[in-house]
Amino acid sequence: MSIDYLRSPPLYKIAKVLRYCRLYGPARTYVKIIAQLHMRQEGERLTETWVNSGVGDSKSKNIAIVGCGNFSFSNIAYYATKNSGSALRAVYDTNGARAVSLCRAYKGLYAASRPEEIFADPGVSIVFIASNHASHAKYAVNAIESGKIVHIEKPHVVNTDDLDALMGAARRFEKSPIYLGFNRPFSNHFLRIQEALNLESGPLMINWFIAGHQIDDDHWYFKESEGGRVLGNLCHWTDLSLRMVGFEAAFPIQVTPGSPANAKSDFALTFNFADGSVCSITFSAKGHTFEGVREYLNVHKGNTLLSMRDFHELAIDRGSKRSSYKSFFRDHGHKRSVLRSILGMPSVPLREVEMTAKLFLAAKQALFEQRKITVT
Ligand SMILES: NC(=O)c1ccc[n+]([C@@H]2O[C@H](COP(=O)([O-])OP(=O)(O)OC[C@H]3O[C@@H](n4cnc5c(N)ncnc54)[C@H](O)[C@@H]3O)[C@@H](O)[C@H]2O)c1
Repeated sequence: MSIDYLRSPPLYKIAKVLRYCRLYGPARTYVKIIAQLHMRQEGERLTETWVNSGVGDSKSKNIAIVGCGNFSFSNIAYYATKNSGSALRAVYDTNGARAVSLCRAYKGLYAASRPEEIFADPGVSIVFIASNHASHAKYAVNAIESGKIVHIEKPHVVNTDDLDALMGAARRFEKSPIYLGFNRPFSNHFLRIQEALNLESGPLMINWFIAGHQIDDDHWYFKESEGGRVLGNLCHWTDLSLRMVGFEAAFPIQVTPGSPANAKSDFALTFNFADGSVCSITFSAKGHTFEGVREYLNVHKGNTLLSMRDFHELAIDRGSKRSSYKSFFRDHGHKRSVLRSILGMPSVPLREVEMTAKLFLAAKQALFEQRKITVT
């Protein structure tokens, strides 16, 4: 069962807040708490656009968010408006009350009654898409065709039709850059890992153990059309592994399932890359993880052996030399990931947009069909 934090016993709440302050800092803990209240908002689709009276228009109000749930509230809107000099212009959510709540909290200009209003608004230059997974590609294509910069939360697609549509639009409108919601590549820990691995040559042995949140059976992630937790969660680590091996050396990749077809949240998968690298990913979601998602990584390449815990601690052994790092807070790279599109940093090359999607779609297919899949 998922935990309703707002209804938890007071001592549990205090312990959780204290732990989160230590792990994420007081400001992010505070916004995560407010996000829980925000998620209480339930309402129908807006029948007309809600305008935030008293909030003035300006050139800096150029960001739109489609999908105003927990992640948009506690990460996207938080970092986008706090650190960039840009500001929120428009939001859309099928739950009108949530759209208004986010718009109000971050001083947006309006909550649209239809997503088309956002795509047609010349004042919007960047669209963040953080709605349900099955809607990502469709919204992204609309945004690209309207000449907007688009940041698509993971997974950017849920099937090959989505991928074809997205790649087609991206190639037709080359000037509309695409950013993806894979945040962990921008964590300082991951940047150090890549630096250390680049000093070595040869194949890698990669091992991930991840303990994720238990979520209720009726959660929307589990709907057939949304792609389940392989697309909803596992794609983070297929993407990171692909980056460690390197897009050039990786393909073809053979994906072998190691858990039953009916597994909803507990997965084991092996990836054999073209250069001889091997990666195993085990994802377990059996109960409540008090500190949120837990991630353990071990990698061996050449003379380098490294291990990372929770994007908080990293140890790198290279021959006789050992380097250890501990960040003050956990660093999942969210801030940098959100700010990239706003600050005009390099977008994701189209080949990478395509290849990382092919890999997570193959992981899903391998588990579902209980057979090896080769991704070319
Ligand atoms: N990068 C990360 O670390 C990370 C972490 C968590 C979630 N996410 C991603 O962010 C996205 C949102 O996840 P969340 O945790 O905020 O979920 P959520 O359930 O809290 O929010 C989803 C929101 O989308 C709205 N919605 C549903 N269908 C819609 C539609 N067709 N059009 C517009 N809005 C619609 C819902 O009403 C809801 O408010 C997902 O893609 C998820 O995978 C990314």
